[in-house]
Amino acid sequence: MKVLCVVGARPNFMKIAPIIDELKQRGIDYVLVHTGQHYDEKMSQFFFVDLGMPKPHVDLEVGSGSHARQTGEVLMRIEPVLERERPDVVIVVGDVNSTLAATLAAAKLGIPVAHVEAGLRSFDRAMPEEINRLMTDSVADFLFTTEELASEHLRREGIADEKIFFVGNTMIDSLMKHVQRADESSILQQLGVEARNYGVVTLHRPSNVDEPESLRGILEALSTIARDLPLVFPIHPRTRKRISEFGLDALLSQGFILSEPLGYLDFLKLNKDARIVLTDSGGIQEETTVLGVPCITLRHNTERPITVTAGTNQLVGSDKHQILAAAAKVLGGQAEKKQVPPLWDGKAAGRIVDILQRMV
Ligand code: UD1
Repeated sequence: MKVLCVVGARPNFMKIAPIIDELKQRGIDYVLVHTGQHYDEKMSQFFFVDLGMPKPHVDLEVGSGSHARQTGEVLMRIEPVLERERPDVVIVVGDVNSTLAATLAAAKLGIPVAHVEAGLRSFDRAMPEEINRLMTDSVADFLFTTEELASEHLRREGIADEKIFFVGNTMIDSLMKHVQRADESSILQQLGVEARNYGVVTLHRPSNVDEPESLRGILEALSTIARDLPLVFPIHPRTRKRISEFGLDALLSQGFILSEPLGYLDFLKLNKDARIVLTDSGGIQEETTVLGVPCITLRHNTERPITVTAGTNQLVGSDKHQILAAAAKVLGGQAEKKQVPPLWDGKAAGRIVDILQRMV
């Protein structure tokens, strides 16, 4: 079996790393393609180092652009690579533009596609990722899901049961593999914070950061929280641009510890020891659930509902007052360690490769 793995953006790397480990351990021939959707060192290369990933064999260097352009560039540039390599299966992960583009290119060449993290649905088609998920799942041949409700969504969309495999969460495989090493990070000292005495903020969703009024409301709420609890805020490039474009820098002048995007191990350590995490990311909802850290999600919906029903996550949206009320509740109470979802046990990648070896 020859496998071609595709990654493009930051949240892809920790999902593919454990799969590559498995392929290597079993001596399976593989090619790693990076689309170049994320290209800053801090958004990409540093993650390869932290996760112990091999350098990609191919970099398509697509860079930034509109959705159509970015998706189109990946489609065009990956086709000759697929034709040259002729893999038996292409593995794509997550829901970014690169995931969809690689899937389309492979499907049209008749190469089977395996989608890792299939079936997640926010039911919000204003989210570019929701379109990517729906399209990717509709043509993929192997759909590997992280929670049972995701398998259920796929069945309801008419996808044959034989294609759906509930295997667990490869992002959590990475977390479990690296959490001890992350503990050695000196990021808390570097930032001048103490364990359980700071919060972490991440923000990058277009719906939150591209609208001046919603970004202002969120930053106002955060700056109020930051009066009592230092907030570490590693700023995503998109968000950094918007904050200065909209003239909102002053809202971050007190109580925040601002940083560039952090590496995988530093960020894992930071999350693990935080008192509260406020985020609009998808993956961080899952990581905080496993780490037992309260997470306030600055969105109205989540494609990862198990983090709410079993884990430490609550959906709050982007309204200033709601954010403040939810944070006050968390900060006033004891952090409760809730359940780790089924099969989030560090062994998902092994199950995926078992299935592919049996069926491809
Ligand atoms: C993408 C994913 C999103 C994921 C996020 C994690 C899609 C549709 N969205 O969103 O699901 O949660 O990655 O970060 O694929 N930029 C840089 N350097 C980089 C990358 C981006 O400066 O290395 C800037 C560019 O100005 C770019 C903007 O950030 O236009 C947005 O990047 P893009 O890849 O389009 O989307 P993200 O917001 O990162």
